[in-house]
Amino acid sequence: MGDRLKGKVAIVSGGATGCGAAAVRLFAAEGAAVGIIDRNVQAGQALAFELASLGKRVVFATADVSQKDQVNAAVANVKASLGPVNVLFNHAGTIVIKPFLETEEEDWDFLFDVNVKSMYLMTRAVLPMMLQAGKGAIVCTSSISAVYATPNEVLYDATKGACHMFARAIAVEFRDRGIRCNAICPGFIETPHGLREVKELTALGVDVSEAALKAAQGRFGQPEDIARAALYLASDDAEFVNGTQLFVDNAFSAV
Ligand SMILES: NC(=O)c1ccc[n+]([C@@H]2O[C@H](COP(=O)([O-])OP(=O)(O)OC[C@H]3O[C@@H](n4cnc5c(N)ncnc54)[C@H](O)[C@@H]3O)[C@@H](O)[C@H]2O)c1
Repeated sequence: MGDRLKGKVAIVSGGATGCGAAAVRLFAAEGAAVGIIDRNVQAGQALAFELASLGKRVVFATADVSQKDQVNAAVANVKASLGPVNVLFNHAGTIVIKPFLETEEEDWDFLFDVNVKSMYLMTRAVLPMMLQAGKGAIVCTSSISAVYATPNEVLYDATKGACHMFARAIAVEFRDRGIRCNAICPGFIETPHGLREVKELTALGVDVSEAALKAAQGRFGQPEDIARAALYLASDDAEFVNGTQLFVDNAFSAV
């Protein structure tokens, strides 16, 4: 398709389905070699196989991204197959939707491990390669939820606030060593995550009907909307864009 990531080696965490999978497809189409890291082995392997059979350099490595040893092993596998990594899309994440007073400490720990600690572990594993090359781009999936709260999502909103600030802080610490790190903030996107969110919020009486989504953001976002924004931030087109938050929400957050 294009060559906006020509010569890049990218890792996409959470790249087996949803926006992550759309980013894997787009990054590969734009010339990157791509390592998918995900706990969904079946979908991750199938996507890597499909793209590899089309001649793309795409590999899959399994990991629960909240587990240090698994992350380190998966990153090492991708490096061994594709070479040093210079683009990291920290996208893997999940959601717990419950009235706040029904949440338990386990929910808090689980969600912070999967959404926030994962970003730390992945970045900790990949950043040294980027520093050695003197260049790298990191994109972290935050959310409109980092700054716009939804009832029954206190834990999730708090994790996304942390992802938001993680991206800014990495940018500040490593800017002068050639590293860019930006956050991407999707609105409601039609993925397994987004569809479950709508279903569970509706069951709890929160209006996320088609009409409500239309009023807030025009339509349900599509995985490709996020993939195209991630491509921009990952590519050299964004070479002076660092430490920012790109809201991809069709003006949800502009009201
Ligand atoms: N869909 C939305 O409306 C929306 C809005 C804002 C932000 N997000 C963010 O997008 C991400 C969710 O992705 P999606 O919407 O593309 O849906 P998705 O559920 O299809 O994708 C999430 C991917 O992450 C993987 N994953 C989850 N936990 C993991 C773990 N512990 N280890 C390894 N892989 C893991 C899943 O297997 C899946 O492939 C989250 O970070 C979420 O906060 C989504």
